[in-house]
Amino acid sequence: MERTEIDVDAVKLSFLKGKEAEIVYIHGSGCDATLWEKQLSDVGGYAVDLPNHGESCKAEIRDIDDYAYFVAKAIKKMLGKAIVAGHSLGGAVAQKVYLNHSKVVKGLILVGTGVRLRVLPEVLEGLKKRPEDTARVVSRYAFADEKLAEEFSKVFVERVGILRKDLLLCDKFDLLERFRSGEIVIDVPTLIIVGEKDMLTPVKYSEFLKRHIPNSEMVVIPEAGHMVMLEKPGEFNGAIKEFLKNLVDHLPPELL
Ligand code: COA
Repeated sequence: MERTEIDVDAVKLSFLKGKEAEIVYIHGSGCDATLWEKQLSDVGGYAVDLPNHGESCKAEIRDIDDYAYFVAKAIKKMLGKAIVAGHSLGGAVAQKVYLNHSKVVKGLILVGTGVRLRVLPEVLEGLKKRPEDTARVVSRYAFADEKLAEEFSKVFVERVGILRKDLLLCDKFDLLERFRSGEIVIDVPTLIIVGEKDMLTPVKYSEFLKRHIPNSEMVVIPEAGHMVMLEKPGEFNGAIKEFLKNLVDHLPPELL
């Protein structure tokens, strides 16, 4: 699959490029752009390797806002504006891209994510003390399908350092009260997707998003866990295509 590179403040960001589409996908903790291969080849768009992941360069990242800064600047350079799709930590980044750089966002796709992403303390502690075993446990939590969990555990074991760093950032991400109080209002079309069996970001996190984002729709995918785009690509891509179709039918011309 083709790659394209964008420099943001002298940091090289690498993107995997699929069919032509103005969607930018953001991976979750310890993952990279290859997570979205099945979406890039079918639906299309660009998938970013966040700084310190995959083929992107290193950068100092202190919080989710820092990731959002790099992604937003890259979208501006590359496409002007895009539909921003994010999974888990990537969903937190997508929310921050919208909140901090709303001009580059014409829609959101929030996948297996939430407005607060606290992490089990046992997982954070385990990743420090018994990194490999705990990386395997995280993989088991992340899939409904045990075989896929076993295969994917290699990825988390290999990247356990960045997995832990990302999960520490997730643990600090918290917009719950700002959504509850009505201070945050997302007013772009939003698709929320979650696996029915998601153990890391349970369906109730997506239901909260659905209740608080007026122009949103939610799709719960049966027999899928947290890594829903890998476990059920057919249903997942179908949901995105339906969302895109409705978007084209209803978007005001200035957002197209
Ligand atoms: N959206 C909506 N509500 C949320 C939320 C979210 N993203 N995160 C927490 N809440 C709500 C809970 O539903 C709960 O409400 P309730 O008391 O009405 O049931 C309340 O906030 C407190 O949440 P809870 O999850 O019990 O507390 P916590 O945030 O202090 O819990 C954990 C910490 C780690 C035990 C819990 O978040 C968890 O099990 N997380 C999933 C496992 C994990 O590690 N995920 C990794 C995410 S990347």
